[in-house]
Amino acid sequence: MQELDKIITEAKHAFQGARTLPELDQIKGQFLGKQGVLTDLRKGLAKVSAEERPILGAKFNNLKTELEALLESRKNEIKAQALKERLDNEKIDVTLPGRKQSLGGLHPVTRTLNRVTDLFSTMGFSVASGPEIEDDYYNFTSLNQPEDHPARSMHDTFYLEGEQQLLRTHTSPIQIRYMENNKPPIRIVSPGRVYRVDSDATHSPMFHQIEGLWIDDRATFADLKGTVREFLRRFFEKEDLEVRFRPSYFPFTEPSAEIDMTFKDGWLEIGGCGMVHPKVLNNVNIDTECYQGFAFGMGLDRLAMLRYGVTDLRLFFENDLRFLSQFSG
Ligand code: PHE
Repeated sequence: MQELDKIITEAKHAFQGARTLPELDQIKGQFLGKQGVLTDLRKGLAKVSAEERPILGAKFNNLKTELEALLESRKNEIKAQALKERLDNEKIDVTLPGRKQSLGGLHPVTRTLNRVTDLFSTMGFSVASGPEIEDDYYNFTSLNQPEDHPARSMHDTFYLEGEQQLLRTHTSPIQIRYMENNKPPIRIVSPGRVYRVDSDATHSPMFHQIEGLWIDDRATFADLKGTVREFLRRFFEKEDLEVRFRPSYFPFTEPSAEIDMTFKDGWLEIGGCGMVHPKVLNNVNIDTECYQGFAFGMGLDRLAMLRYGVTDLRLFFENDLRFLSQFSG
């Protein structure tokens, strides 16, 4: 009996002496382990008389429970102490400079696109879009470019399996889709990615165009010239920017013209345009006795290059942050 009390006192003392959990674990072994004090005691129980055994047995069990409780409470104390020390040591220095969060920015072509659509919307145009994987019909046939048409070879492009579908070579199929579903008056711009088999400093297999379409009962070539010139002057913020319409050929417009603008000491081609060909209007069931209009297409990347003074188109698509970050903010 006395011996049991002594064991408790000793254990309390020993547990208290442990500073860390591994230390405590070791001391636990001395009391509750296989070769610990309790094991010895239990062995001793075998030797006592049959009357004493239940009494001593019960005491033994109480002792074991008490030791385990002591151990548990010391364990919690050590844990709490360790946490407290950690919290005390890990003070936050609020005077340290913060970690920088780098913010993303809009891609220069996206910025240009937004600027262009904003400008056109002030001129009464709304924005339309269409699929990048197009049917042969929308990309060529509906635009008065039948299968054996020579102009089709200019657009040698990326065909998908079966050759009935392709990556669109221009934004003009959006005109057709829009006119199929909307009646004149129509005034839209349609920006988007387009694809051609071309790759050098000024051509990329994927690039961006913006297309304009204006159809009503009186839109003329003079309106086309005025619209394009007004847009380019506003875009480049140059009142005296000159625009030239150079006769050209597109199957879907008649007459057709290339759009040139003054640049440095000469002229620079910036897009194509023309009066929408009656056959195109017929294809979408617009009555050519009542309606007419014009279309124009411009390279968005070209506009971005000119506005930002970028000389290599490929820089736009290489995703080099040293280049791209110059445009954000
Ligand atoms: N779709 C023509 C091209 O990609 C450009 C264009 C658009 C020409 C609209 C005339 C009218 O080359």
